[in-house]
Amino acid sequence: MPISLLVASSDPHFRESIAESLLNVPTAKMISEYPEVSSNLYIRVLQDLERHPEAALIVDLASDPEGALKVMEKVKQAAPDLYVIASNYHADGETVIASLRAGANDFLVQPLKRIEFRDAMARLERTPRRTSVTTSRLGKVYSFLGVKGGVGTTTLAVNFAGVLAQRKQQVVLVDLDFTANECAMQTGTSPQHSLTEVGENLSRMDQALFEGFVTRDPLGFFLVGPPDQVEQRPIFTEPMFREFANFLVEKYESVVIDAGRWLSDEVALAALQSSSTVFVVLTQDLAAIRNAQRYIAALMRLGFNQDQIKTVVNRYQKKPGANLATLEQIQSTLNQTVFYGILSSPAASAALNKGRPFVADREAAADLNRAFRAFVDKATGAKQALKTA
Ligand SMILES: Nc1ncnc2c1ncn2[C@@H]1O[C@H](COP(=O)(O)OP(=O)(O)O)[C@@H](O)[C@H]1O
Ligand SMILES: [Mg+2]
Repeated sequence: MPISLLVASSDPHFRESIAESLLNVPTAKMISEYPEVSSNLYIRVLQDLERHPEAALIVDLASDPEGALKVMEKVKQAAPDLYVIASNYHADGETVIASLRAGANDFLVQPLKRIEFRDAMARLERTPRRTSVTTSRLGKVYSFLGVKGGVGTTTLAVNFAGVLAQRKQQVVLVDLDFTANECAMQTGTSPQHSLTEVGENLSRMDQALFEGFVTRDPLGFFLVGPPDQVEQRPIFTEPMFREFANFLVEKYESVVIDAGRWLSDEVALAALQSSSTVFVVLTQDLAAIRNAQRYIAALMRLGFNQDQIKTVVNRYQKKPGANLATLEQIQSTLNQTVFYGILSSPAASAALNKGRPFVADREAAADLNRAFRAFVDKATGAKQALKTA
């Protein structure tokens, strides 16, 4: 059976050296690179194992051995029969024993030597591995990332959460666009609490406490976001987000994130990194398409894989006017299949003015509702891929 590898290391040289070593092992390939060895790693690993149940994981301990061992332990708890190879510059007794105790099946010394790597792959190949697809018990994380303001990122995130809630899922919508706070506006609420309180109470967080804090939309999803005062950025750090994400995926079926358009924000980036799917939202105008190119390139540099990234053209017009590109032109410019085109409809802004998601009123916007629900079906795998609206 061919070997599929997941590689977690904050060191790009290490990941490159694995890629190079793999050139000598034709039966093996790297299917995911994780540029961080963080407490969220198990979320991504479980997501990838759903697609590649046979995969094995290599964890680089070098930059923070103690932290990495904890991460590895957590991954092994979540996926006990995952084959894990630990790696570090030292292979002294203590290091190796600590790795074994954290659940490693094998150990590789750095710098990697071609023969040793090949032997490790041979040992892996001889070990029976999982073949059946197991659906992870963790919730799915869907992020919406706009390539510029006004493309409809918030609209899509809010309505996506709305449809999942209508389908009786346990859903949390997290607004990480700290300057805007527009999820609250689009749902017509003024939340009493924000991510600031979430951050302050993380150590004692449980479902009852969380649901006491946050707003419940009439459609059934929970909403949490930044404080309403624009001069106040919540004290909500990247490590806090990671811990919060672990709580969310363990307790809720779906987490929907409005990531704004901030790839440079470390909290938003951590959110994208924990996502099963990142919807890159654009429109048909030149500026959006050019930005989409830059965003997709950046996501690739940051180690995201093609499975995770889905481009969505919002306010889509099949017969675009002057200065707007067709779907085909967008696909060839981005060198990407557009995952979905969500039709442009005045019902979207009408809903925004009412302060209620358009999915709350199916009749008022029948076309948009139909198109949007088909998008949700395709995105969640609820139905067979439907063709572009
Ligand atoms: N499919 C659509 N058709 C028409 N207008 C839309 C659509 N989606 C969003 N809009 C409108 O575009 C504007 C910007 O939407 P918003 O969700 O705030 O974007 P962003 O979060 O990217 O800044 C709003 O007026 C919204 O009603
Ligand atoms: Mg927005």
